[in-house]
Amino acid sequence: IKVEGEMVAELTAPPFVPKPIGNRAATKLIVNMEIKEMEGEMADGVKYNYWTFGGSVPGSFIRTRVGDEVQFHLKNHPDNKLPHNIDLHAVTGPGGGATSSLVAPGHEKVFNFKCLNPGLYVYHCATAPVGMHIANGMYGLILVEPEGGLPPVDKEYYIMQGDFYTKGAYGEQGSQPFDMEKAIKEQPDYVVFNGKVGALTGDKSITAKKGETVRIYMGNGGPNLVSSFHVIGEIFDKVNIEGGHLINKDVQTTLVPAGGSAIVEFKVDVPGTFILVDHSIFRAFNKGAIGMLKVEGEQEKTIYSGTVQEGIYLPEGGTIQNMPKEKGVAKSTVAKTIPEQVKAGKEIYGRTCFACHQSEGQGIPNAFPPLAKSDYLNADPKRAIDAVLHGLSGEITVNGKKYNSVMTSQNLTDEEIANVLTYVYNSWGNNKTNVTAPMVKNQRG
Ligand code: HEM
Ligand code: CU
Repeated sequence: IKVEGEMVAELTAPPFVPKPIGNRAATKLIVNMEIKEMEGEMADGVKYNYWTFGGSVPGSFIRTRVGDEVQFHLKNHPDNKLPHNIDLHAVTGPGGGATSSLVAPGHEKVFNFKCLNPGLYVYHCATAPVGMHIANGMYGLILVEPEGGLPPVDKEYYIMQGDFYTKGAYGEQGSQPFDMEKAIKEQPDYVVFNGKVGALTGDKSITAKKGETVRIYMGNGGPNLVSSFHVIGEIFDKVNIEGGHLINKDVQTTLVPAGGSAIVEFKVDVPGTFILVDHSIFRAFNKGAIGMLKVEGEQEKTIYSGTVQEGIYLPEGGTIQNMPKEKGVAKSTVAKTIPEQVKAGKEIYGRTCFACHQSEGQGIPNAFPPLAKSDYLNADPKRAIDAVLHGLSGEITVNGKKYNSVMTSQNLTDEEIANVLTYVYNSWGNNKTNVTAPMVKNQRG
């Protein structure tokens, strides 16, 4: 296929997709994608620290055609804490691009690939620990249209399922850190469409008018569960099974594998609210996997009649009870005593360190060393201060295990570093060293 000209790809946040490719010739397509780590709401009053491609979960939708030569620019926002990369299932090449795209905060990586096979493909981060990066929201879809484009439809939407693992149970209020153990056991607290409970309900529902044909680009980021995707009260006229060429017709429920997709199409013949679910049904009513399609138009009594009772398919506990909100935490009062330092440090730890060293300082085997009972930590506070101030790389041994990775320098004040390290030293069986701001100032040099 001949490649003509050059253009910048339009990217969209879910549930929307870029304009169809139509008849355009294959081209050099420039994709500019920025990774952002950001706090969001998993459910009412439940905060979660998402890692995103382009600022949304799932990440920005990329639309290309077969024969396009993609020049992919992956940026890692300077405020981010971690290195990331991208593996696109549409890529023919090592790691799907992951081997060429590992990028540190504040940097950009560029790599090129040609779209050989049409289809709907998942992309995701593949940085160790891979499961954790995916579990935090690092996935999205890239559509490679065939020559001449897909048949036109009236409405197109972008939905992706994902399972989330939090320290607290479903609905538990406040900031909820990622829970590695639940993730390994494949026991999610949340199973949701588009990154959170309620991303596609109420006034965020997707919409159509009676008589229109709706196409949903449906993906599943996992990391663990496969989805039994179903729309209550509709039948898929057409399904591109697993996002490929094979078309199945008249389908009730279609399987969307973790790291896979499906394209479903159906004409909406009657008005009403149609509920999208993962038909592994406890996930829908008890873990969040519910969306809504609202169809407007005149009744069509020959197809359906009856009185409609609203609210039959609302999630159980859908009205999460509000816990009293925490009173505003006193702002940056100087922590003078050790207990005050520990308290302030715990808060900093939860914002800054836990992503890697985990909530109980246990670390993650082969990736992030433990801070709990760490011989490396306890041997030398100056070395620990240096690690936080300037970062740490190269081989180190912690409790008999070797680590050879990179910790980025943490952008914190002397006092914050003193507090967070005092918290760490006074937790999880460490030796209770008191780190003070002047000690940190000394090391800053
Ligand atoms: C190593 C503390 C944030 C990744 C260490 C060590 C300490 C430490 C004391 C030395 C080894 C040990 O005792 O286990 C902290 C504190 C943090 C923080 C207090 C927050 C203020 C982070 C973050 C990451 C990270 C956000 C992930 C990007 C690492 C890695 C090593 C390490 C990979 C090993 C480096 C190597 O192999 O040379 N950290 N850390 N740390 N940390 Fe952190
Ligand atoms: Cu990542």
